[in-house]
Amino acid sequence: MLKFGVIGFGYWGPNVVRNLNQLEDVQVLAICDKSAQARRRVQKAYPHVEISADPHELLSSSKIDAIAVVTPVWTHYELAKTALQQGKHVFVEKPFTSTADQAKELIELAAKKNRKIMVDHTFLFTGAVKKISQLLGEGILGKLYYYDSTRVNLGLFQHDINVIWDLAPHDLSIMNHLISANPEAIVATGQTHLNGFEDVAFITLYFPDQLIAHLNVNWLSPVKVRMTLIGGEKKMLVWNDLEADEKVKLYDKGVDITNREGLYNLLVNYRSGDMWAPQIEQVEALHGELAYFVDCIVKDKTPVNDGEAGLRVVRMLEAACESLRQRGRLVYL
Ligand SMILES: NC(=O)c1ccc[n+]([C@@H]2O[C@H](COP(=O)([O-])OP(=O)(O)OC[C@H]3O[C@@H](n4cnc5c(N)ncnc54)[C@H](O)[C@@H]3O)[C@@H](O)[C@H]2O)c1
Repeated sequence: MLKFGVIGFGYWGPNVVRNLNQLEDVQVLAICDKSAQARRRVQKAYPHVEISADPHELLSSSKIDAIAVVTPVWTHYELAKTALQQGKHVFVEKPFTSTADQAKELIELAAKKNRKIMVDHTFLFTGAVKKISQLLGEGILGKLYYYDSTRVNLGLFQHDINVIWDLAPHDLSIMNHLISANPEAIVATGQTHLNGFEDVAFITLYFPDQLIAHLNVNWLSPVKVRMTLIGGEKKMLVWNDLEADEKVKLYDKGVDITNREGLYNLLVNYRSGDMWAPQIEQVEALHGELAYFVDCIVKDKTPVNDGEAGLRVVRMLEAACESLRQRGRLVYL
């Protein structure tokens, strides 16, 4: 029986607790939140769990094997560091840390203590991303041309981070997982309108071999959009995460240039074939992810969303914000 302590029971924490509780061989022993209101919600939902206002009670408890850090990003580093120092495995929310240096320190500490870090890049465990990963792995799309994601809605305004640190970790972690090459450079532009943090941002990532990625993240959109287009030489893919069925559609569409001798001799052939919507596994991603975390601990495996994966995302977030501050200067990664 693996015993967990969960720190943070705000918006996301209850999902982590609920999914941990559904796992066999896992017990949520204690939940901590600084807010009295959050602790009252814990008491009502989980009357038999130990409740605390002080994270150090959980972090120093010899009864706890693993800690889930589900608090705002600026608290992740200190809480995860203490947990690792106390010999606990750590499941930490995205984005992993506030700086790349903090992430590197935690990775080194985990290696020294022989403990696992898993960063909650939840989307990697969705049926849609698993299917897209499989299709790309099989080379169905051919050479990739572009990755273009729109993740916009009204709010939720965060009080400590801008829209890039809030929403882009999802896209960066997905992109990082799906595309084996690493981006070479990044350009980001954005604007603050209301609370001093950028609420609208556009990020472009340049990859080797003419692959380009673009992310649109926005807290000021009247409608919610979760749409990713992936264009390849052989096929093109549309992932609309708000679709109940047929979230992923694969289009046999493309462009073939048949004659390259001189501009006026170009023969552009537009291919427009069938559309296919593959079957997508319907599972709660967080459930699969937490089960995988437990499996990685028990079998001593390195998770795909380990500290290194978290660090890669934090590096891109830092570079994007550096570019943003300079109104879109190209920043090399
Ligand atoms: N993986 C996902 O899809 C996903 C979705 C939402 C949020 N998140 C991440 O989860 C984390 C929390 O986000 P949220 O939306 O739940 O925030 P939230 O503000 O709703 O909740 C955070 C909770 O942590 C508590 N807290 C803060 N510092 C604490 C400390 N030092 N000790 C104990 N309790 C403390 C607060 O009182 C609050 O109840 C963030 O890192 C966010 O990016 C991830």
